[in-house]
Amino acid sequence: MAEFALPANSKIGAGETYKAAGAKNVKTFKVYRWTPDDGKNPRVDTYEVDMDSCGPMVLDALIKIKNEIDSSLTFRRSCREGVCGSCAMNIDGTNTLACTKFIDEVKGDIKIYPLPHMPVVRDLVPDLNVPYAQLASIEPWLKSTTQPPTRERLQSHEERAKLDGLWECILCFCCTTSCPSYWWSGERYLGPAVLLQAYRWIADSRDDAVGERLDALEDPFRLYRCHTIMNCTKTCPKGLNPAKAIGEIKKMMIERTI
Ligand code: SF4
Ligand code: SF4
Ligand code: FES
Repeated sequence: MAEFALPANSKIGAGETYKAAGAKNVKTFKVYRWTPDDGKNPRVDTYEVDMDSCGPMVLDALIKIKNEIDSSLTFRRSCREGVCGSCAMNIDGTNTLACTKFIDEVKGDIKIYPLPHMPVVRDLVPDLNVPYAQLASIEPWLKSTTQPPTRERLQSHEERAKLDGLWECILCFCCTTSCPSYWWSGERYLGPAVLLQAYRWIADSRDDAVGERLDALEDPFRLYRCHTIMNCTKTCPKGLNPAKAIGEIKKMMIERTI
């Protein structure tokens, strides 16, 4: 039977409020804060941000808060253009990328939490060690039994097109952390991001390890915990469809038994 136990320090309290004195165009950000260093419960701090001197994205506001209001606020970011996947967080109740989320899209105060159901390292930084280990387990690289050619391995246009909707994944884990099956069975179920990556190699005409890859997924937990709830596809900030990729793997599992 599943065991539901709240992690230590899970009770969230009210935090500090930082006013934007003199500002005329103010947006309020309510941000989850927690540090392992002081033994205290998490809290939600309130930051008023002067929008007349802030960029349009949620990440712009977080950077402004860190630079000008509270340097202790901790979050990941790198590319600022939806490419690296590091700024994934829960904004206004949805897992998304802070750098591609417009502040104007949110009516009222903007609530920002770390990606749900993951251990928190600090503030908005989730611990992604488990999903990264799961990614490594699917061996996400080309496996070929033929001699390497002197130039690149060629594909037809049709073969290459099969990778569209897969190669664009930036491994932000917005999908995985929105998946109820992953919430309950995350240690054993691979989750939508890793399964989409698995299918990316299964679907690659240059890869010779399809049977081996399917064998490794043939398991009641690693693959079949997906119950087609579709949260993953709904939340993907890159517009990808991990549920479809999982469906394709399941289809191949059936086809190879016929
Ligand atoms: S499928 Fe979408 S949500 Fe999931 S990891 Fe890839 S880019 Fe992120
Ligand atoms: S479709 Fe599968 S992977 Fe996607 S949210 Fe539902 S159970 Fe999770
Ligand atoms: S900072 Fe790279 S995706 Fe947002």
